[in-house]
Amino acid sequence: MADKLIIFDTTLRDGEQSPGASMTRDEKLRIARQLERLRVDVIEAGFAASSNGDFEAVQTIANAIKDSTVCSLSRANDRDISRAAEALKGANSGRIHTFIATSPLHMEKKLRMTPEQVLEQATQAVRFARNLCADIEFSAEDGYRSEIDFLARVVEAVINEGATTINIPDTVGYAIPELYGNFIKTLREKVPNADKAIWSVHCHNDLGMAVANSLAGVKIGGARQVECTINGLGERAGNCSLEEVVMAVKTRRDYFGLDVGIDAQHIVAASRMVSQTTGFVVQPNKAVVGANAFAHASGIHQDGVLKARDTYEIMRAEDVGWSANKIVLGKLSGRNAFKQRLQELGVELDSESEINNAFTRFKELADRKSEIFDEDILALVNSEGAAAEQDQYGFVSLSQRSETGEQPHATIVFTAQGKEVKSESTGNGPVDASMKAIEAFVHSGAEMVLYSVNAISGSTESQGEVTVRLQNSGRVVNGVGADPDIVVASAKAYLSALNKLHSKADRVAAQG
Ligand code: KIV
Ligand code: ZN
Repeated sequence: MADKLIIFDTTLRDGEQSPGASMTRDEKLRIARQLERLRVDVIEAGFAASSNGDFEAVQTIANAIKDSTVCSLSRANDRDISRAAEALKGANSGRIHTFIATSPLHMEKKLRMTPEQVLEQATQAVRFARNLCADIEFSAEDGYRSEIDFLARVVEAVINEGATTINIPDTVGYAIPELYGNFIKTLREKVPNADKAIWSVHCHNDLGMAVANSLAGVKIGGARQVECTINGLGERAGNCSLEEVVMAVKTRRDYFGLDVGIDAQHIVAASRMVSQTTGFVVQPNKAVVGANAFAHASGIHQDGVLKARDTYEIMRAEDVGWSANKIVLGKLSGRNAFKQRLQELGVELDSESEINNAFTRFKELADRKSEIFDEDILALVNSEGAAAEQDQYGFVSLSQRSETGEQPHATIVFTAQGKEVKSESTGNGPVDASMKAIEAFVHSGAEMVLYSVNAISGSTESQGEVTVRLQNSGRVVNGVGADPDIVVASAKAYLSALNKLHSKADRVAAQG
């Protein structure tokens, strides 16, 4: 029997550390459910000690998820570890992930600790954590830039204390595949009790090699856990991308000889959900989940694929959840057909009332747009989930006037704490006028740091999906709105961002 490669997803923790990618508790729960559908082995749900909001997110996910292990990050101190254990109490299977930096640079300049102090703190932390949880992961932050003999001493000590997984991050994305693979291999050879733990890799993408480095850590180094994120989301240039690493191991099973438990059919839906929630658009030529990943433009390629698919395709689009942009439903489709299509797309709404709301919005959309694509349905349910959780502001209607040579003007009706209000403004363009009309009533004072529009299914008949990122008093939130009218989509996105600003708890950075 082939070895299993454990897939550890950290979209909700390391991914969320991307500037601007912060998520609400309910958004995290929806993504966690999608990760469970994907059959991810371990979901890192957050960093419980970093804020009350993160604690609640980890706790909610731990209580809801049944099939994946739920994990919380914690620094190597008793308080963080206790908070993680507390948040994970309701988990079917929980893991505490504790870390401390081991590179000379981080120990001296950041921690201001001697190597012996770091060794002592790591040992004590794992001893403390082991009394609270059976499944303990230890990470040596900036592990790849650590002095290997010292790192081997730390790892040996924490395994002796009961660490069950040892993770060696390339925290700053400095590694080269062959060198990183050999580093893990040599380190394992130097640690006498190496076989008592599972070895894990965690690579950042600063030089664009996170996936290659992770795969080298597996193939050369013998790691059996890969830490990754949907769409490669993460600090700076991001993390190793889940969809790429999983499809590499599945497609080249002949080379890796490993099994992965992931149900790849849910990959595209997961990618869309993460992109819509965070406002991080997936580039069209991104492997596996980019819009062009399976598109063949040249005549020679098209001809080849028509004659025999494998002339130019090494994976099947359907296997990762692409359903070829087909027209799925229309105006006459009923609730059951809608519900069934949601199931086929891997979307599970939590309650009958959520399905009813989504169905009502689907009917409204079908009245205005003759062809409804899978992408429309995914946008509709994703923005439905985001809208349902907060009710400070809600979109009602909008009218706007724009004409060459005239100043655009917008009038918007929306609800504020359940009461309808009407507000109007002029602006540079109709979108600007409608945002200003909202702001004229709300006075949030927030700064807009990102505004982006994306055509969901590629034509002018398509719905526009708008992301608005707002910043206020050090907090950054994303709002998403979808509508065939991009001015309306923009107003919805702005209101959704205001709702999040209104509700979100403070957080502190996970590292540093
Ligand atoms: O990149 C890193 O070193 C991390 C650790 C905290 C695991 O994210
Ligand atoms: Zn990281």
